[in-house]
Amino acid sequence: MKKIEAIIRSSKFEEVRNALAAIGVNFFTIIDVKGYGLQKGQKMMYRGSIYDKNFIARIQLDILAENAKVDEIVKTIVHSARTGDIGDGKITVLDVAHITRIRTGETDESAI
Ligand SMILES: Nc1ncnc2c1ncn2[C@@H]1O[C@H](COP(=O)(O)OP(=O)(O)OP(=O)(O)O)[C@@H](O)[C@H]1O
Ligand SMILES: [Mg+2]
Repeated sequence: MKKIEAIIRSSKFEEVRNALAAIGVNFFTIIDVKGYGLQKGQKMMYRGSIYDKNFIARIQLDILAENAKVDEIVKTIVHSARTGDIGDGKITVLDVAHITRIRTGETDESAI
């Protein structure tokens, strides 16, 4: 089992959600995130204040998935979240040790 953490542009959320639904992935956690990418906080001045133009609010989707589904999910997110411009985001895949569904006590792949 894997956990997919995808940081995407907020403006792409609907498109990504629809693309995931089309491959049967209707479950995820949404987290509001902020951060820096490769361009590391280039500063810009706007109305007398300094802003970091890369410090843009983004959305992180966390998805638990069985191993066999991971590649399809990652490809789907890349395809639907991509604009081609700097700052499109990043996807990380992590190993998951255990999952438990609280209601039933089911574990691991049965709990996805
Ligand atoms: N190495 C990293 N570690 C942790 N978080 C990261 C890393 N790189 C990017 N992020 C997160 O992803 C968000 C989007 O990153 P971004 O798309 O700018 O990545 P990038 O590697 O700079 O790619 P690009 O060159 O397309 O901008 C960042 O705001 C940050 O929250
Ligand atoms: Mg960047």
